Amino acid sequence: MTAGRRRAGVLVSGTGTNLAALLDAAADPGYPAAIVAVASNRPSCPALALARARGVPTLAVAVRHADGDPVRRDARLAAWLLEQGVELLVLAGYDRLLQPSLLDAFRGRILNVHPSLLPAFGGGMDAVEAALAHGVLVTGCTVHLVGDTGVDAGPIVAQEAVPILAGDTPDRLRARIHEVEWRLLPAALARLATGAPPEAGPLPAGSGRR
Ligand code: GRF
Repeated sequence: MTAGRRRAGVLVSGTGTNLAALLDAAADPGYPAAIVAVASNRPSCPALALARARGVPTLAVAVRHADGDPVRRDARLAAWLLEQGVELLVLAGYDRLLQPSLLDAFRGRILNVHPSLLPAFGGGMDAVEAALAHGVLVTGCTVHLVGDTGVDAGPIVAQEAVPILAGDTPDRLRARIHEVEWRLLPAALARLATGAPPEAGPLPAGSGRR
């Protein structure tokens, strides 16, 4: 059922646990977005199989299917997403930079989730390992709007801290960050779908922000 709901597409490259969280949230008829299309640059990624199993239309365009050219790949992805009537785009573990065709098609309506408290540990695929290696005591996850300004940049719309525990391994820490992402990303999509302002976090004492 999509009547009255914003039509969201999701780009994936990996295991798809965030996609599962989005599909679960959207299974509630009261949720303000429907997941109407899932696309990937990796034809055999588990996330795409999950989308098929849940009955969502899918498309995979590996760069080798696009004459080795990411510009052509993204032009095909953008055209297909627009054909599906996608209005809002979510990058849920998508591991490629967006080319202008995708940025232009969905400008201001693209969300990304990243497993750190940006701007810390942005710009790479190993934010969890990097946080552990740096010895920070707190990391977390961030949902932000994707702009033209660079990797893991763009206005932050939701963020939550995850403490690092003694003896943490990348897998253990990643698992706790994932659990937060599964709440934060569907909530951020709902806010984008309803035009609500970014989540207001707790304010530091005396910050003067209201
Ligand atoms: C998440 O940790 C997300 O922050 C990052 O990629 C991971 C995707 O995980 N961008 P999954 O495929 O949703 O399980």
